[in-house]
Amino acid sequence: MNQNHIDIFDTTLRDGEQCPGASMTMEQKVRIAHQLEHLGVNIIEAGFPVISPGDFNSVETIARETSASRIAGLARCVTKDIDAAARALAPAGERARIHLVLATSPIHRQYKLNKNRNEVLAMARSAVSMASDLAGEVQFSAEDASRTEPDFLAEVTETVIDAGARIVNIPDTVGYAMPDEYGHLISHLVRNVSNIDRAVLSVHCHDDLGMAVANSLAAIRAGARQVEGTINGIGERAGNTALEEVIMALRMRSAFFNNAVTSINTPELLHTSKIIARESGMPVPRSKAIVGANAFAHGSGIHQDGMLKNKTTYEVMRPEDVGWSETEYPLTKHSGRHAVRIKLERLGISPTDHEMNAFFPIFKKAGDQCKFIDDQELIHLFHHGVIISPVS
Ligand code: KIV
Ligand code: ZN
Repeated sequence: MNQNHIDIFDTTLRDGEQCPGASMTMEQKVRIAHQLEHLGVNIIEAGFPVISPGDFNSVETIARETSASRIAGLARCVTKDIDAAARALAPAGERARIHLVLATSPIHRQYKLNKNRNEVLAMARSAVSMASDLAGEVQFSAEDASRTEPDFLAEVTETVIDAGARIVNIPDTVGYAMPDEYGHLISHLVRNVSNIDRAVLSVHCHDDLGMAVANSLAAIRAGARQVEGTINGIGERAGNTALEEVIMALRMRSAFFNNAVTSINTPELLHTSKIIARESGMPVPRSKAIVGANAFAHGSGIHQDGMLKNKTTYEVMRPEDVGWSETEYPLTKHSGRHAVRIKLERLGISPTDHEMNAFFPIFKKAGDQCKFIDDQELIHLFHHGVIISPVS
């Protein structure tokens, strides 16, 4: 395995579905799982088998119908969860990963679990050994890791690796961490966990303070080799790390990330985003990075002019690399003469300089009356001097 390879763990079907209003049927989840495999994600978290018969069936069906990605199922560190996860994941054979979660922070130990440190360590150890006998691979997540005492987190990590966990996930469950701080936490584990070479460190960030992507990237710089998140960033509360942003940041700035690579087929990103938006009922904001409708649309006259001269002036990646067909130059009141002329020419109208001088003020005046001037409006405006519908 390439030391710089970053595994992409998609939890759209588990944490993403925890986003209120995003519940999906089994058929919808299976469709998404097929697309995620096509996209090239390394691990698909298909659900939380113990929580409902529907989740159990979805995980089991996805385990059976996929062939390339590893399939994870979530379980708390209790026998009935582990047993349900193992049964649901069985059709995936060696690709099955039981994903165990147990809270480790003082707040969760006191108020949620009512357990001391030693009791938490004992629960984690026995759950990992039980799961290791039942699935090809075990991942342990220390819930609320970013608010856990770093030395205790190191002790938990060492204990679960000893018990057989091959992936240890360090979630910023409540989206509280800041990038430098989170990166330091990962470095602390890399330096202080004696058996760390036997496991992959993973990160899982929430976006409560808008830091999920930045935190995930800081963790990768510090040594994490698996990143968890969802497409479009959907998830519990403010959502999870938007995987499409992390994937493209790693691709465009690979050298900055110590030559990190992923195995993602990036031209499939937009299509995947659209399928997930449709199936989950969670629309993508126009200005969302990578997959929003405006991500490659240039509005201002200065930018449109620069882009028409050379695309590197205002674009750091090519639209086709993430699935868009081309850069867009929507005509608005901000557009300049150069963009208007080019659009007219593409529509088969070749104005003389004299015609353009007369038309441009008319265009600007019309722009004040509507949000966009589409092709039909532009043609009408050029020939008749007025727009069809001023509120469009
Ligand atoms: O946010 C979280 O801590 C989780 C765990 C189950 C990994 O979703
Ligand atoms: Zn989460």
